[in-house]
Amino acid sequence: MASPPPSKPVAALYIGLMSGTSLDGVDAVLFDGQAVQGHVHAPFPAALRDELLALNTPGADELHRAALAANGVARSYADVTAQLLEASGTRRDQIAALGAHGQTVRHRPGGFDGYTTQLLNGALLAEQTGIDVVCDFRSRDVAAGGQGAPLVPAFHRAVFGVAGRDVAVLNLGGIANLSLLFADGRTGGFDTGPANCLLDGWIARHQGHAFDADGAWAASGQVLSPLLAALLAAPFFALAPPKSTGRDLFHLDWLDAQLTPGLVPADVQATLLELTARSVADALQAQMPGATTLIACGGGARNGRLMQRLAELLPRVALQSSVAHGLPVDQVEAAAFAWLAQCFQEKRPGNLPAVTGASGLRVLGALHPA
Ligand SMILES: Nc1ncnc2c1ncn2[C@@H]1O[C@H](COP(=O)(O)OP(=O)(O)O)[C@@H](O)[C@H]1O
Ligand SMILES: [Mg+2]
Repeated sequence: MASPPPSKPVAALYIGLMSGTSLDGVDAVLFDGQAVQGHVHAPFPAALRDELLALNTPGADELHRAALAANGVARSYADVTAQLLEASGTRRDQIAALGAHGQTVRHRPGGFDGYTTQLLNGALLAEQTGIDVVCDFRSRDVAAGGQGAPLVPAFHRAVFGVAGRDVAVLNLGGIANLSLLFADGRTGGFDTGPANCLLDGWIARHQGHAFDADGAWAASGQVLSPLLAALLAAPFFALAPPKSTGRDLFHLDWLDAQLTPGLVPADVQATLLELTARSVADALQAQMPGATTLIACGGGARNGRLMQRLAELLPRVALQSSVAHGLPVDQVEAAAFAWLAQCFQEKRPGNLPAVTGASGLRVLGALHPA
């Protein structure tokens, strides 16, 4: 009797491609299902970054502009994928799939009146890379009544969870999100509010820098208590989870509406940094009062002043960098989208209904085959 032909070995490598609301560009990682085997970061071309930022706000001829920007994101993702394959000595036929987040320009979950938009031409990315592309991870959770965000808590549980301990993971991107890994096995998670998006916007306007390195400019100013109170009065902070947000809510026009004449720009920066630290610390204390450990990742974990204020506001919590747990701060979110692509290929759900509020577990993503 003829034996069946040997089945083709399943490629075990995935690539995760993440570009967050900071708009600092693309992080790409090579992920073997357990660990990151390579990482490349590339900024977006300046004109594409400007257009993606502009597309966060309603404007003229949006459909055409969004389509072209989605092509631009695909081109950037294809470039960084080629760099990653080259740098790691990997062939494209060794990659089972790319998990590609796309660029969020609107995030308004809410059933038939809601949607979430991550710009990326997945068809073009599949065409350019010759690799299966899994993208549009958030829409299915939104269709199931969820927030579509955060999607990283299940990955954080797999990588950072410790049995018997209440551990929280904080991602400081443009927006901040917490994952709550409870000792009893429950997992929570939600966006806490802005992390870097306002800090970046304010220093760009006043100093012409893309970001406030180490929070040094913020540290040179004084926190303005009335402004901080006005900002913390935004209803989003008082909402109970599930909740998620984006630049739709936290943008410079929102800040400008709270400013009074004559404020010193460095003091506003100090206040914005305090807003991030306070909103995270308050949310952690409210939702996980027994937290023993807070693991920070995302670019904001490089902001020494922000880390210092978080540590001061949370004296009973050990604040650690994700790198101490084996994952550098810039690789965690990209690794999560590689992991979500693996979930998709294996037809396993990627969302946690307790986190997003979706009506059930769902396989997340849409496939553009190579
Ligand atoms: N050395 C640093 N000091 C302060 N902030 C930093 C530093 N490095 C990166 N950042 C911040 O991190 C942001 C990028 O973080 P990232 O996790 O990539 O966010 P996103 O997921 O939104 O793209 C930058 O926009 C900047 O605000
Ligand atoms: Mg980024």
